[in-house]
Amino acid sequence: MQTKEIRATSHESRATINILGIETSCDETAAAVVADGRIVKSSIIASQTKLHEKYGGIVPEIASRAHIEKIYPVIAEAITQAGVGKDDIDAIAVANQPGLTVALIVGVTAAKTLAFVWEKPLIAINHLHAHLQSALLEQNSPELPAVALIVSGGHTCLYDYHSPLQPILLGSTIDDAAGEAFDKIASILKLSYPGGPAIERAAKKGSPDAIEFPRSMLGKDSLDFSFSGIKTAVLYYCHGQDMKGENKVDSMSEQQIADIAASFQAAVVDVLVKKTQRAVEKIGAKTVLLGGGVAANVELRTRLQQMCDSTTPAKKLLIAPKQYCTDNAVMVASLAYHKFKAGLFADLTLEPTAYSE
Ligand code: KG4
Ligand code: ZN
Repeated sequence: MQTKEIRATSHESRATINILGIETSCDETAAAVVADGRIVKSSIIASQTKLHEKYGGIVPEIASRAHIEKIYPVIAEAITQAGVGKDDIDAIAVANQPGLTVALIVGVTAAKTLAFVWEKPLIAINHLHAHLQSALLEQNSPELPAVALIVSGGHTCLYDYHSPLQPILLGSTIDDAAGEAFDKIASILKLSYPGGPAIERAAKKGSPDAIEFPRSMLGKDSLDFSFSGIKTAVLYYCHGQDMKGENKVDSMSEQQIADIAASFQAAVVDVLVKKTQRAVEKIGAKTVLLGGGVAANVELRTRLQQMCDSTTPAKKLLIAPKQYCTDNAVMVASLAYHKFKAGLFADLTLEPTAYSE
């Protein structure tokens, strides 16, 4: 269902605009208070990693229950740590899409309840656009146009960024997200969960040239991504083409595992960097923004920086601070500030939506 937004004239002008942001789209219950879109007064995150780790992925039912358990204490802590009272809060913002509906609904219900009881405006936030915003926390007026690469566990997207309110989608994954591929390969290699940081750690001791895994570029001009091919290639490498061979991972040395991790990481980063370069050329971007959980990956950050430095003229690269790469509510409250200024508010019929509108 399309999110209904009311354009209202701005509320009485205050010196500082404090927004309470709420995030429950996946496996982190988060709340934050951010002033004027940039000053982080508090950021509380209750991670569910421990609950999902034995399943090697997120179990929606478990995620939903954990959000219900944590949402109240997390919001209360965010308000206490920010040192604000309800009268100091100007609006309640919540990520209502995209994500697991059973998880999003917990944050949306909490936000609607607070907005109703406290008589505050409600702001609906797109989680992916919020990830993009986290790259602008330290520098909010980039030279435009900009290309934004958002790489997370559920999404891999390239945007044409002209304004915080309407990033234009240039391309996205047609199958697995980059983070999902990291998680699945870590599981094949019997590394820990979540897979991204585990692959990155293992890759440090391996050679990126040890195995030539496929780099799917799709069409010549395509800005879409596909990571299912590389996932299958690693699976066949470890289990044999017919999948009947013994699982070689158990008998592999630490060095062999490290080589697979490094070669896989190099292939994924190659594709992400080349596609971003294509997007930069297509729209004549002057700036590149990087956000999402996979943006924590040092190899990706380094290679993207090299790409930006090597183009003529060089492009400015803005990366989300590490603590705001993975899911958090600071990015939600930060983006909400721009919607607040534009007078874009949701009403109490707001619902969660699994897909990005
Ligand atoms: O943005 P995020 O917290 O959640 C979603 O919106 O999906 O991203 C989580 C994803 C996971 O797939 C995780 O493995 C990946 O980000 N990730 C990384 C790294 N840290 C987290 N991937 C590669 N390298 C990392 N250092
Ligand atoms: Zn995310």
